[in-house]
Amino acid sequence: MDSGNGDRPRIDTSVAHSARVHDYWLGGKDNFAVDRAAGDAVREAYPGIVESVRANRAFLARAVRYLAGEAGITQFLDIGTGIPASDNTHEVAQAVTPGARIVYVDHDPVVLQHARALLTSSVPGTVDYIDADLRDPERIAAAAARTLDFGRPIAIMLIAVMHLIVDADDPYGIVGRMKAAMPPGSYLALSQVASDIESERMAEAARRYNKLARETQRHRTHAEVTRFFDGLELVEPGVVTVPRWRPGSELEARARSGMWGGVGRRRS
Ligand SMILES: C[S@@+](CC[C@H](N)C(=O)[O-])C[C@H]1O[C@@H](n2cnc3c(N)ncnc32)[C@H](O)[C@@H]1O
Repeated sequence: MDSGNGDRPRIDTSVAHSARVHDYWLGGKDNFAVDRAAGDAVREAYPGIVESVRANRAFLARAVRYLAGEAGITQFLDIGTGIPASDNTHEVAQAVTPGARIVYVDHDPVVLQHARALLTSSVPGTVDYIDADLRDPERIAAAAARTLDFGRPIAIMLIAVMHLIVDADDPYGIVGRMKAAMPPGSYLALSQVASDIESERMAEAARRYNKLARETQRHRTHAEVTRFFDGLELVEPGVVTVPRWRPGSELEARARSGMWGGVGRRRS
């Protein structure tokens, strides 16, 4: 595990962090008053937030199940991991392929603390954690190469994280550099908050969040999210609201969601 300076990481409770706000919406306990205030402010503007966040977690699990099963992927690089919740990437992947290798990446100190606990538990296969920023994809690829074989297909997971990368940070350049590191036959699974679903409520939710949080949210349209998959072959049904990506039931498909998501494959 690459844990930066090795000291206990500093947790800033004066400003909301996306990992902790997300944990609050999912009913977790790893959040502070400032995170709950930001979470409530968003929920007042967009009352569907909890259902939408849950639908996104379900998308993550279905995408990993598809990748580990039908697509035969055994290596996962999950960037913007978040605080562990139900159906984490390694649990879903290793339930299908016990020997699957998973590398988690996040830059939040609370996620790092959980990773320390997670990595001491005995799991089959291999799980590693890198304390790093998505905006430095070369560092992530170099550290991930300790665990993953970049000569064989890898699934890169960018689930509910790209809306935290603003345009000034060159989101398409970052994803392009990640795609360039992917060997043929690799996959990208990505979801992010939409700007063109319940637009007015979403815009107000972003305004409220951005006043209280460390990271600024940048919501994107369907076309802008689809652009992240440029050069890849989109797996059916393409970029859709996350509950509509290969849902397990009609009920699941009907969940309220303000997120676009999809899975793309780099041709062999
Ligand atoms: C909304 S949560 C999503 C968690 C999980 N992927 C999911 O979908 O349930 C976003 C996560 O991305 C992380 N994150 C945000 N910006 C990041 C960055 N620049 N580099 C690494 N991680 C980042 C946050 O710390 C947080 O844990």
